[in-house]
Formats: sequence, C-alpha cells, structure tokens
Amino acid sequence: MHILILHGPNLNLLGVREPDVYGHLTLAEVDRRCDDLAAQLNVTLCHHQDNSEGGLIDRVHAAMADCAGVVVNPGGYTHTSVALRDALAGAGLPFVEVHLSNVYKREPFRHHSMLAPLAVGQVAGFGAASYTLGLRALVDWLRERSH
Ligand code: DQA
Repeated sequence: MHILILHGPNLNLLGVREPDVYGHLTLAEVDRRCDDLAAQLNVTLCHHQDNSEGGLIDRVHAAMADCAGVVVNPGGYTHTSVALRDALAGAGLPFVEVHLSNVYKREPFRHHSMLAPLAVGQVAGFGAASYTLGLRALVDWLRERSH
C-alpha cells in the first residue's frame, strides 16, 4: 500500500517558522517519523511539499495512479482552497487532514476547513504526532475496507 504525505505552503519552514506554535522539528524530521511508522505498518510513502496551490493539485492528480490515500496538511489553503478540495474530491482518494497546531484554539479564520467535510477524519494539535496518528488511522481505515 502506497500513501502520499502532502504538505502545503510554508511547511518547508518548519523548525524556523513560529516555533512557539509549530514546534522545533523540521519538515525532514516529520517525514522521517512518518517513514519510521510506515516501515512498522508495512506501507510505503511518498512525500511532497508545495507552496503553490497548483503544485499541490497536480500532486493529488498524480497520486491517482499509485496511491491508496493521502495524509494532507494543507497549511493556509485549508481555510481557502475550493480548488484543492475539488482535486481531492475528483481524485476520489480517501484522505486524513492533519494540522500541527490545534486550529480550533487559534484565530477564528482557522476554525473552518474547506477540506474537512470530505476527509475520512482530522487530527490537529499534536505537532508531528498529528501526522503519525493520521497515517496510522488512514492505514487502519483502508485495511478495514479492503476485505
Ligand atoms: C497548519 C494550520 C494552518 O492554519 C496554518 O495556515 C498552517 C499550518 C498547522 O499545521 O497547524 O500553515 O495547517
């Protein structure tokens, strides 16, 4: 089983960017933790970070060829992007939405997600563990549906 880990805008700055909100781990370390879990779960991952909406959409389209699902942190596009939502809906790929921070205890504009109504589920507020919790949940969900 192959899963796409998709990181949205500004997540390339993890470790440097607002560490009081997003922590000190780099994106490479987040990806490494996902890889470690993937090995335990016996799945394979590909990782992609993009600062542009079009780049994220293209990567979702490409995932239709070889991925069973997506763990996505859409960054700021969470709250604005009809186009990314449409890409995930169009691809028909099950996905889990993850956030490092608990968006619900932050500014009101972060309380609404364009994507969440289509997601299998959402994990927010656990830092890098939001990704690994989301990955584990997505793999369990996919395996339950495969038999
Ligand atoms: C984020 C939360 C978003 O509101 C924000 O725009 C981000 C990161 C998170 O992981 O907590 O870029 O998705």
